[in-house]
Amino acid sequence: MGRFWHPFGQLWESATHPVVFARGEGVWVWDEEGRRYLDGTAALWYANVGHGRQEIAEAIAAQARALAGYSAFGTFSNRPAEELAEWLSQRAPMPEAEVFFVLGGGDAVETAAKLARRYFYEVGEPSRTMLIARTRGYHGTWGFGTSLAGIEANRTGFGELVPSTVQVPWDAVEAVEAAIVAAGPERVAAVIAEPVIGAGGVYPPPPGYFEALSEICRRHGVLLIVDAVICGFGRLGTWFGIERFGVRPDLITFAKGVTSGYLPLGGVVVSGEVAAPFKRPGAPVFRHGATYSGHPTCAAAGVANCRILEEEHILERGEVLEGELARRLAPLAAIPIVEEVRGGLGLLGAVELQAPVLAEYPDALERVAARARARGVLVRVLGSSLAVSPPLIIEPHELDVLAEGLAGALEDVAREVGALV
Ligand SMILES: Cc1ncc(COP(=O)(O)O)c(C=O)c1O
Repeated sequence: MGRFWHPFGQLWESATHPVVFARGEGVWVWDEEGRRYLDGTAALWYANVGHGRQEIAEAIAAQARALAGYSAFGTFSNRPAEELAEWLSQRAPMPEAEVFFVLGGGDAVETAAKLARRYFYEVGEPSRTMLIARTRGYHGTWGFGTSLAGIEANRTGFGELVPSTVQVPWDAVEAVEAAIVAAGPERVAAVIAEPVIGAGGVYPPPPGYFEALSEICRRHGVLLIVDAVICGFGRLGTWFGIERFGVRPDLITFAKGVTSGYLPLGGVVVSGEVAAPFKRPGAPVFRHGATYSGHPTCAAAGVANCRILEEEHILERGEVLEGELARRLAPLAAIPIVEEVRGGLGLLGAVELQAPVLAEYPDALERVAARARARGVLVRVLGSSLAVSPPLIIEPHELDVLAEGLAGALEDVAREVGALV
């Protein structure tokens, strides 16, 4: 242990406090010592169908045995990638959609950002390069995603970022229009937004936000990129999350729940309109893609997972269970160290700690997560909050276990800091 430099991890901490996971089944995971935990976060918001689904493992094995990998560049293809693209296109909330595959959310964002700019270049508006993102937004940690980051700490210390990327307050749709007008619409390519802000702390949008955003984008000829990396594949009860608002995006970035994490996969759903300039005879090639774009074994995992989501009606559960989760989290607001509880839209929520508690005890969040872990429940530290986003297969009695574990952990820490006797 110790040579693995963990993503978003401190080297010293990784070496001294490893939690080594070994096995999973349903909503449960086990560490190497055999301790069992309720997976309160679906790993990193992705184990939507739960752990240990043999059908997905078998689909992966079958494809790996037949042909594990092969290039999908140019005119080469494979059946799983074709099938998954067709599946997603048919379920996308925009007509004639094409699907571009990458390996995760960060590279999906890179693809969408470049495609938005390149689209305007193709239609004779090359000055439209500006990309507008929102504070609290998270779009991965690659080049564009870092530049679009709404979490300041994720942008700091990397030198100059991608030019013509700006942030506006996450909850003020009029700020988007003001930014478009200030720059001049002829300079703006796209706005990127998560249906519910996830990694930035679980913030559902204000009422009417997306309807108004969509209207503003259309009026100024600006593309709307919906980043559905967390909200897709049932987290909000639909394929891409954005259907909850009846809004038609131009591009949708996805990852995570597309395979429930059984293998890495991400991509961009591109509306027929945005794809059109690349489709006409003699159109230029979109010179973009990764070695593993359209990887057959990853796509096979996606096909098997999406079938399970649909056939077992797991997809809808993000909406079916959202009230159940919110009802169980709401009472936590009464614990003396808690500032507020957020959520209610989709199967995700967050419990924010009070700023004075965090100022006096900078490790308070880690302590809550550790106390929850000791109680057999995994929750996630997210900014000044603890986040939950369990697998969509979770049952109400398991939601009780999750909420009780988190409540107990919060009370433990409230006692430790003298806020509760
Ligand atoms: C909304 C959103 N976009 C993009 C990403 C980046 O995805 P990845 O970590 O697969 O690069 C994430 C990751 O959590 C995300 O939540």
